[in-house]
Amino acid sequence: MRGREVHLVAYPERGVSADDFRVVEVEVAAPGPNQVLVRNLWTSVDPGLRLRLAADAPPGYFPPFPLNQAMDGIVTVGEVVESNAAGFAPGDTVWHAAGWREYSVVEAGVPALNGLATLRVLDVSKVPPQAYVGPLGGMGLTAYMGLFEVAGLKQGDVVWVSAAAGAVGSLVAQFAKLNGNRVIGSAGSPEKVAFLLDELGLDAAFDYKERPVAEGLAAAAPEGIDVYFDSVGGEHLEAALGALRHGGRAALCGAISQYEADGPPRGPANLFQATSNELTLRGYRGSNFSDRIGEMQERVGAWLVAGDLVYRETVSEGLESTPLALVSMLAGETIGKTIVHLP
Ligand SMILES: NC(=O)c1ccc[n+]([C@@H]2O[C@H](COP(=O)([O-])OP(=O)(O)OC[C@H]3O[C@@H](n4cnc5c(N)ncnc54)[C@H](OP(=O)(O)O)[C@@H]3O)[C@@H](O)[C@H]2O)c1
Repeated sequence: MRGREVHLVAYPERGVSADDFRVVEVEVAAPGPNQVLVRNLWTSVDPGLRLRLAADAPPGYFPPFPLNQAMDGIVTVGEVVESNAAGFAPGDTVWHAAGWREYSVVEAGVPALNGLATLRVLDVSKVPPQAYVGPLGGMGLTAYMGLFEVAGLKQGDVVWVSAAAGAVGSLVAQFAKLNGNRVIGSAGSPEKVAFLLDELGLDAAFDYKERPVAEGLAAAAPEGIDVYFDSVGGEHLEAALGALRHGGRAALCGAISQYEADGPPRGPANLFQATSNELTLRGYRGSNFSDRIGEMQERVGAWLVAGDLVYRETVSEGLESTPLALVSMLAGETIGKTIVHLP
C-alpha cells in the first residue's frame, strides 16, 4: 500500500514558506510485532514546529526535523487499520506523534513527545476525535497546567492572556473565566477581539496591533494584573512586567513574536520589575506534565461536554495543505486550534 507524507526539504532562511516542504508518496510498511497501522484523520499545526525547522533548534527543546524524512513528533489522531499490539484493534481511534502523513506505523508503548502522544486508544463516545488534537490533548494540558499550576491562579486574580484567540490562549482565557476571574485578552485583529468579547465572554480585550501593547493593557486593566499568560514574549512580556502587581506571576508558555524575528530576539527592558514587585516568572512545557493528562481530560472534558467551553478550529483539508496551514497560523490568520483534516 502507498501513502503520502510531508518532508521538510530546506530549513527556512527567514519566514517559513510552503516551498520548504514537499509531499512525497511512499510505500507504507506492514506493521511488525507490537506495532499498529493507523490511517490518520487529524494532524496538528503548532507554533512549536517552527522552532524545529532549524538546524539549531533551541537547546533543551524537541530536536530539529531532519531533512527529506517523514516528520516525527507531531500529534495526530487516526483510526487503527491493522494491529499486532495488545490493547489495540482495528477501528480504535488513537493518538500518536508520527504526524503529517496519511498512514503511520506506530509501536505501542514507545514514549512520544515526553509521553504526551504515546500511542493510546481515545474515548470518542462524547467528543469528536479532533478534540484530542486540541482541548483534550497537548493544547488543553498546556493551558490547564500553565494557568492552574505554573501561574498558580487564585480567586480574585486579574489575568491577562496573550494570543488569546489562539489554541492555547483561548482555553486559558476560558478556564480563568470558569474559575471566576477577571480576564483580559489580547489578539492581532478586530475580528479576533470581537471573538474574545462576544464568544468567549472576556471582560476586556484589545488589539495589540492598534497601539503599543502597554497602552492597550493599561486601558483594559488600569488596576494592573496578577497573572500573565505569555505566548508571545518581547513587547508583550515587557508590558506585563510593567503591569503585574506585587507577587504577580507569569507563565512563560511561548515567545511567538521571536520565532521568525529578524535580528536578535527582543528581551524585556524592565526585568527589574520582577525584583521590585517580587514577581514569579516561570517557563514550562506542557508535555512535562503528561502524568496529569487524565486529571486535565476529566475536568476539561466535563466543561466541553456540558457546553461550557467554546472550541473554535481553523481546519485545512488534505495533507498537502499542512505547510500553508503552518504559514497561515504563524501569520495570525487562524482562530482557535489550527488543524488539518486528512480525508
Ligand atoms: N510550553 C508549551 O508546552 C507550549 C505548548 C503549546 C504551545 N506553546 C506556545 O504557545 C503559544 C501559542 O501556541 P498555539 O498553539 O496556541 O498557537 P495559536 O495561538 O493558535 O497561533 C499562534 C498565534 O500567535 C499570534 N502571533 C503570531 N505572531 C505574533 C507576533 N509577532 N506577536 C504577537 N502574536 C503573534 C497569532 O495571533 P494574533 O493574530 O493574535 O497575533 C497567531 O494566531 C506559542 O508561543 C507556542 O509556541 C507552548
